[in-house]
Formats: sequence, C-alpha cells, structure tokens
Amino acid sequence: MQRLIIITCILILGFVSPILCRFINDDPTKMGHFNVIDYGAHGDGTNDDSNAILSAWKDVCGAEEPATLVIPRRKIFLVTVLKINGPCKTPSVSIKLAGKIVPPSKDGWVSDRSSWIVISDVNNLTIDGRGGLIDGKGSTWWDTCNKNCSRPTALRLRGCNNLTVNFLRMSNSPGAHISVNGCNGAIFSHMNIKAPPHSPNTDGFDIAGSQNILIQNSTIGTGDDCIAINGGSSNINATRLACGPGHGISIGSLGRNYSREIVEDVYVRNCSFTRTTNGARIKTWPGGSGYARRIVFDQIILREVENAIIIDQYYGFKTPIHTDEAVMVSEVTYRGFNGTSVGDDAINLKCSTLGCFNITLDDIHIISSQANKPTHAFCENVHGTFEDTLPKVSCISQSPSSFPSPSLSPFLSSSPLSLPFPFLSSSLSPSPSLLPSPYEGA
Ligand SMILES: *[C@@H]1O[C@H](CO)[C@@H](O)[C@H](O)[C@H]1NC(C)=O
Ligand SMILES: *[C@@H]1O[C@H](CO)[C@@H](O)[C@H](O)[C@H]1NC(C)=O
Ligand SMILES: *[C@@H]1O[C@H](CO)[C@@H](O)[C@H](O)[C@H]1NC(C)=O
Ligand SMILES: *[C@@H]1O[C@H](CO)[C@@H](O)[C@H](O)[C@H]1NC(C)=O
Ligand SMILES: *[C@@H]1O[C@H](CO)[C@@H](O)[C@H](O)[C@H]1NC(C)=O
Ligand SMILES: *[C@@H]1O[C@H](CO)[C@@H](O)[C@H](O)[C@H]1NC(C)=O
Ligand SMILES: *[C@@H]1O[C@H](CO)[C@@H](O)[C@H](O)[C@H]1NC(C)=O
Ligand SMILES: *[C@@H]1O[C@H](CO)[C@@H](O)[C@H](O)[C@H]1NC(C)=O
Ligand SMILES: *[C@@H]1O[C@H](CO)[C@@H](O)[C@H](O)[C@H]1NC(C)=O
Repeated sequence: MQRLIIITCILILGFVSPILCRFINDDPTKMGHFNVIDYGAHGDGTNDDSNAILSAWKDVCGAEEPATLVIPRRKIFLVTVLKINGPCKTPSVSIKLAGKIVPPSKDGWVSDRSSWIVISDVNNLTIDGRGGLIDGKGSTWWDTCNKNCSRPTALRLRGCNNLTVNFLRMSNSPGAHISVNGCNGAIFSHMNIKAPPHSPNTDGFDIAGSQNILIQNSTIGTGDDCIAINGGSSNINATRLACGPGHGISIGSLGRNYSREIVEDVYVRNCSFTRTTNGARIKTWPGGSGYARRIVFDQIILREVENAIIIDQYYGFKTPIHTDEAVMVSEVTYRGFNGTSVGDDAINLKCSTLGCFNITLDDIHIISSQANKPTHAFCENVHGTFEDTLPKVSCISQSPSSFPSPSLSPFLSSSPLSLPFPFLSSSLSPSPSLLPSPYEGA
C-alpha cells in the first residue's frame, strides 16, 4: 500500500513538474530576467520610461549570473535619453527587446544632439529584438534640421566586445541608425533597417575603429549608406544583405580634413543593391593619408543602380584637384557582379594622380536598365587587371603593380604643380566653409 502511494506520488510529480517548469519558464519574472515594468516603466508611449529602464539595467549589469533586461511586447516605451553603461559584473548579459521604443519629439529632446540610445563598454552582450522596434520618428528632424544642425544617431554601440544582435528592427532615425565604434567582435543577423529614400544621412550602419564585425542576412534601406565603413576598421564583413534604397555600401569617406585613416580587410559577399545611387563605393578626401586595402566585393546583384562600382578620390570636391597626399587605395577586387545600371558610367574609378593599385575586376556583367542603351566604364590612374567585364574596361593600366617609389612621384619633385590646394591662397588648411558640412555628405 505504502509502495503504491510512493509510486503514485512519483507518477504525479513526473506529470506535473514539466508543466510547472513550462509555467515558470513562461513567467516573465523567471530567474535572471529583469522586466522594466517591474521597475515602474509605463509602456504607454507618453510617460518617460528612461529611468525605469536604467534602474532595471543596473540590476542586470550587477547580477552574479547571466541576466536579461526585458522590454516586453505589446507596449510602447517613451525613452527621452538612455545611456546604458558597462562593464558589468555578470559574465553575459542580454537585452530582450520585444516592445517598441520611441523618442521624444524634436522640441522635447533632452539628450545631446549626437545620440539617443547609447550602450557603452558592455562585453558579451546579446540583443534579441524579435517582435520589437526602435522607431526614431525622424521626419520632423529631416524637415527642420538640415545643414549645420546635428541630428542624433538612434543607437550607438561603443566599446562593446563580443556583441551579438539578432532580429533588431529599426526605422526612421533622425540621423544614422546604428553606430559601431571601438568594438571588437560583433555579429548582426536578421537586422531590418528602414527609412525613406530621401531622408538625409540616415545611414544603416556606421562602423569606425572596430574589428571583426559581421553583418549578415539583413535588409537595409535608407536615405544614405546601407553601411559606411570608416577609419580604424578591419575585418568587416557584409554577407547576404539586401541593400536599397540608399547609397550602397561605402568604405569611407576617409581622410577628411587631412586626417590619416586606415581600413583593411573588408569582404562584401552575396549582397544585392536595389535602386541605390551607388553600389560598391570607396570614397576618400583629397589631402588625407593612410590607406584602404584588401577590399573584396564578391557576388553582387544590381537592380537599377546608379554607380555600381565607384572609387572617388576627390570626395567632397566637385572637380578633381591635385594633392601630394591621398588615402592609398589598393588590393580591391570586384568579382561576380550581375544586373542593371541606370547611370552613364556603371564603372567609375576616379583615382588620385598617385594611383590606385592592384585593382581587380572579374566576371562583371552590368547592362543598362534601358533597352539598347550601352553602359560605360570610366577610370583614371587605375592599375590592375580586368577579365570578362561588361562594360568593357579599357582604361586600367596593367602595370605597374605597386606604388611608385617616392623618387618617382611627380609630386615630391620641385614642380610648381605641387601646391596641394592651389585655390587656397596662403593657408594649407582649408577654412571650414570650403569643406561641406558633415550634414550634407552624400
Ligand atoms: C565573456 O564571456 C567569456 C566566455 O564565457 C568569459 O570568459 C569572459 O570573462 C566574459 N567577459 C566578461 C567581460 O565578462
Ligand atoms: C561571447 O558572448 C557569448 C554570450 O555571452 C558567450 O557565450 C561567449 O562565450 C563569448 N565569447 C567570448 C570569446 O568571450
Ligand atoms: C554653423 O555652426 C557653427 C558651430 O556651431 C557656427 O559657428 C556657425 O555660425 C554655424 N553656421 C551657420 C550658417 O549657422
Ligand atoms: C570575413 O571573411 C573573411 C574571408 O572569408 C574571413 O576570413 C573572416 O574571418 C570573416 N570575418 C568575420 C568577422 O566574419
Ligand atoms: C544566414 O543565411 C544563411 C543562408 O540562408 C543560413 O545558412 C545561415 O544559417 C543564416 N545565419 C543566421 C545567423 O541566421
Ligand atoms: C554566395 O552565393 C553562392 C551561390 O549564389 C553560394 O554558393 C555561396 O556559398 C554564397 N556565399 C556566402 C558567403 O553566402
Ligand atoms: C544575371 O542576371 C540575370 C537576370 O536576373 C540572369 O538571367 C543571369 O543568369 C545572371 N547571370 C549570371 C552570370 O549570374
Ligand atoms: C600588388 O600585387 C603584387 C603581386 O601580388 C604585389 O607584389 C604588390 O606588392 C602589390 N602592390 C600593392 C600596392 O598592393
Ligand atoms: C581640421 O583639423 C584641424 C586640426 O586637427 C582642426 O583644428 C579643424 O577644426 C578641423 N576642421 C574641420 C572643418 O573639421
């Protein structure tokens, strides 16, 4: 009899405990989960929830065990300013963004005008954005704050090493959507970033000073670069992205205001560009220094793209100017491009008089989106190889394959040509008015 009771108990427990466990798991108050609602967030879209989110974050960041900040679904969180800081005690920390986050109106802006949400120095962070949205409501900014007026970046990730971001949806940022700065190791997957084609400077990603970054399986369509890869970045990959509308994937601009900048090891693979003004772009300012090298654009589909392949070493200037310094561009490969172009020059490689070296074009098939209209290639001071390209590229010189040695450089000779900015009378430093404001950049 006693044995029967024990067996019955074991049987009941065996059935009940999995159900109990499921129940506990579904419970938002489960271990290690810190729900912002429990910290006083309203989630009504009108009361400011910034402080509640910050209080919840403090507990997440200070936890001994892996911890998750939960921003629950079916609610709208008004966030006026949010600065989430590490380093954290917990070895791994997650943010589950299932609800919607919105900013204050432009007139009610309280943060500095360079950013809205900032996450700094948090290592081993995972963001799961499934079901959520960060909506920057940028239209009033675009309409009323243009030239010489700073528009905030929606999400800044600074000094975050080993970062994973999945299924994050963002829209209509006043300025760039995501800035990645000083991060080593990040994987962004299934991102969805959207803003209208005419929204100014709404880059999808701005990457600078970062290493080992992968953006994959994502859709980005905005009014500016889908991805801009800036100075100090290396080993940056973009794989299986649908980019467009927007300005394509850009290296740079580099070397603005005589700066020295370096970008190397960039792999853009299996991406499509749809109705973008540029596809694969490298842009550098005259007078800068440093280099951009080992850059690969491989297996690219083009749909009505304006400048499918473009190197512009006169960025920011309407007409080519001569300088004795440039950000050196070398070891760039364009392989497996297929699709349509709407511009005159599907391939436009405008290198400084110092030249671009080891530029490879292979298996390129770009036709005009208009029937019977030919496509063209333009290039200047480009050295490298080309094979199987449409349009025909006949302007690349197949030698030399290395930078000229200093003694051969015409600019280091005593030629009177060598004044870098002939139109600047005495000062070598251009007055700020000669440089376009950062807010009018392409
Ligand atoms: C990140 O995770 C790794 C592996 O779990 C761990 O060794 C490391 O200490 C963590 N870093 C931090 C800052 O907690
Ligand atoms: C990176 O972070 C993840 C998630 O916290 C962790 O599992 C992994 O061990 C970390 N890797 C390293 C190299 O720190
Ligand atoms: C642009 O901003 C700068 C710095 O804030 C200021 O000195 C300058 O007067 C502004 N120019 C215009 C045209 O508003
Ligand atoms: C980027 O791709 C290159 C070439 O396949 C690979 O060696 C590198 O590990 C990748 N880096 C990242 C961060 O995915
Ligand atoms: C990205 O897409 C590829 C191809 O569909 C797939 O094999 C891979 O698992 C995906 N990666 C992630 C993280 O979803
Ligand atoms: C790119 O696509 C080709 C076929 O379209 C496939 O064979 C290759 O594995 C893909 N590479 C990546 C990195 O997704
Ligand atoms: C290029 O794209 C066209 C249209 O999508 C397709 O028919 C053709 O097979 C593609 N060519 C290559 C080499 O991928
Ligand atoms: C170009 O490639 C050749 C052969 O691989 C190499 O010897 C040379 O150093 C490269 N030059 C530059 C500037 O990358
Ligand atoms: C250019 O750089 C100089 C020296 O770093 C700095 O003083 C100046 O403000 C910069 N000008 C612009 C327009 O950024």
